[in-house]
Amino acid sequence: MEYGIGRVSGIDMELLVELFNDAYSDYYVDIQVNPDRLRRLIEREDIQVDNSFVAYEEQRPVGVVFLGVRGRRGYICGMGVRRSRQRRGIGELLMRRVLSEAKRLGLNTIQLEVVAANRRATALYSKLGFVPMRDLGLWERNTPPPAPEPAPVRADVAVASQPGARVGAVRMPGVLPLVDAFNEIRPCWQNEAQSLVKMSDRLVGYVSHLDSAATAYALFGESAGGLYIADFAAASRLGNAQRQSMCEILLSTVDRDVPRASAKAFNIPLQGYQEAALRARGFELTLTQQEMVLCLKWR
Ligand SMILES: CC(C)(COP(=O)(O)OP(=O)(O)OC[C@H]1O[C@@H](n2cnc3c(N)ncnc32)[C@H](O)[C@@H]1OP(=O)(O)O)[C@@H](O)C(=O)NCCC(=O)NCCS
Repeated sequence: MEYGIGRVSGIDMELLVELFNDAYSDYYVDIQVNPDRLRRLIEREDIQVDNSFVAYEEQRPVGVVFLGVRGRRGYICGMGVRRSRQRRGIGELLMRRVLSEAKRLGLNTIQLEVVAANRRATALYSKLGFVPMRDLGLWERNTPPPAPEPAPVRADVAVASQPGARVGAVRMPGVLPLVDAFNEIRPCWQNEAQSLVKMSDRLVGYVSHLDSAATAYALFGESAGGLYIADFAAASRLGNAQRQSMCEILLSTVDRDVPRASAKAFNIPLQGYQEAALRARGFELTLTQQEMVLCLKWR
């Protein structure tokens, strides 16, 4: 069977939504969209609809791949084939098309996140040369949060947990520089400052200080009636134990100020102080995502 390929900019939004939802109808997490949600996703993740592709079987759209672009970095943000049309080479065809477009655009790297258990997708990405970079966790808590006072590493850190003292609400522009400054490894695409800034109207930022220097930030909001931790991190100049402690203090302050029966945190790196802080605050790992990258420069 010969498949046609067109650009996402050339397809009707309702058709695109129907295709996306079909491809993701049996997915590990619920990511069904409507036109509004898909438009927001396209805007937030810097997806270029002219450089993203739809595969057609005769006139019918059967697969889609979205390419996000920031500088010379690209991001596969959604890649799916209609369920009844999987395993016929359409996914690979779309990926090869978008990779050659990325080369044409002069991009150096392409990154993506894939659910680690999604063997079909990880096999496809590995076949194309993507390599695993790190693991990210999807976290949930459906129990009351633990007592709000974590043990401080230094006595003066304890002040930070007092209301109005050293933990303060900070407007988004004040938090964004910390996202870049505190993360030695850039956060995943969806947690980069460029994505977070587009959620300014829905996120609140808390920042803790020690000796007047910012030590940690947390960005949070509400999702489906529960607490949603969009991102948090602590200054890299601190040791790991202190980073964990700072994050615990911030997260427990959030729990105190925004008490909710459930809480979620998405795409937070595993095996570091952030995982330790989430576990200490009663979160459990529900799903592991693998961040993968392909270097285009040498291909
Ligand atoms: C992942 C997905 C896009 C693959 O598309 P597809 O059109 O079915 O894949 P293709 O037929 O082009 O296969 C290409 C390669 O993918 C891998 N693959 C695809 N289906 C597979 C399966 N069922 N088992 C193992 N590997 C598989 C193989 O490496 C295959 O290469 P091969 O034929 O040489 O073995 C498709 O299964 C899908 O849409 N899944 C649901 C949405 C999703 O998971 N998206 C990815 C999110 S990151």
